[in-house]
Amino acid sequence: MASILLIGPGAIGATLTAWLAQDDRHDVAVAARTPFDSIEVQTPEGIIRAKPRVFTEVSQVKHVDWVLVTTKAYDSDSAAEWFPAAVGPRTRVAVIQNGVEHIARFEKHIARERIVPVMIDLPADRLSPGRTIQRGPAHMVVPAGRNGEDFLKLFSHTNFDAKATDDFTSAVWRKLCLNSSGAPCAVLLKPAGIVHHEGVAELMRAIIRECIAVGRAEGAKLEDEIVEDLIERAKRGSRDGANSMLADRRAGRPMEYDARNGVIVRLGRKHGIAAPMNALMVSLLEAAQQY
Ligand SMILES: NC(=O)c1ccc[n+]([C@@H]2O[C@H](COP(=O)([O-])OP(=O)(O)OC[C@H]3O[C@@H](n4cnc5c(N)ncnc54)[C@H](OP(=O)(O)O)[C@@H]3O)[C@@H](O)[C@H]2O)c1
Repeated sequence: MASILLIGPGAIGATLTAWLAQDDRHDVAVAARTPFDSIEVQTPEGIIRAKPRVFTEVSQVKHVDWVLVTTKAYDSDSAAEWFPAAVGPRTRVAVIQNGVEHIARFEKHIARERIVPVMIDLPADRLSPGRTIQRGPAHMVVPAGRNGEDFLKLFSHTNFDAKATDDFTSAVWRKLCLNSSGAPCAVLLKPAGIVHHEGVAELMRAIIRECIAVGRAEGAKLEDEIVEDLIERAKRGSRDGANSMLADRRAGRPMEYDARNGVIVRLGRKHGIAAPMNALMVSLLEAAQQY
């Protein structure tokens, strides 16, 4: 049995909590900013429910085997405020967020050997506190090794496509190619169908090319074909789809533009690679958020 504290039970966090709670060998609790009584998730296989303990005060928390962080990237420091109570001598911390800086965001709070970065691909929306919709299958990738494999065992009772890889760097940069290219939708306040405008498609191509160049400099193996594959996939997909930065902007919430586009600019600078289209997206989204 594993004791688990999930910090940040939003779209991803509440969905994962409900899945974890389906295995009664796990003792699952959540650390929430906004409290709720229970979790109900509409999954592609039907509704699943859970009634984890919900903590809203650090003083309620005790050491656990696993901490799972599922806040937005910009809430990482506030998520870490739960660590002194939750992290004991053998606790491991899984960081389940977008971007490529899972370890960089948390190594100031806990030794990097105890951090398990997790790439997650799980389309989920939050309807209200504790209520989510999982819109498709779940994929997770972790680095090969003991920590990654122990993390995957937490989900062994699920039908998730979850695996360990020797090349986690390529996995997260590949996902970043997709996530970074969603910025124009948030800038323009338009859903995914805007990719059919050729000027916007060209802007998305430029954003992805910059991501590939910086990712390669960081050691990721990324093929040139990713650019057209992503554009074609977007053109074939639902025209109404709203990526999470667009959804956050529409809802007046902060956006993850630093984790999705700013990181390409920052790491590019380190390698002498310019990323002007990503920098433009950051400036526009930052301005939209601040004014
Ligand atoms: N949603 C998706 O489809 C999807 C897919 C793949 C990857 N991701 C990535 O997964 C991560 C989580 O995304 P999400 O969509 O699940 O975000 P979300 O729905 O906004 O959920 C984040 C949750 O964290 C909570 N929170 C923030 N600070 C906290 C703190 N200090 N202590 C406790 N709880 C705290 C928020 O509380 P409130 O309820 O008070 O806001 C919210 O419930 C992001 O990096 C995202 O990019 C998301």
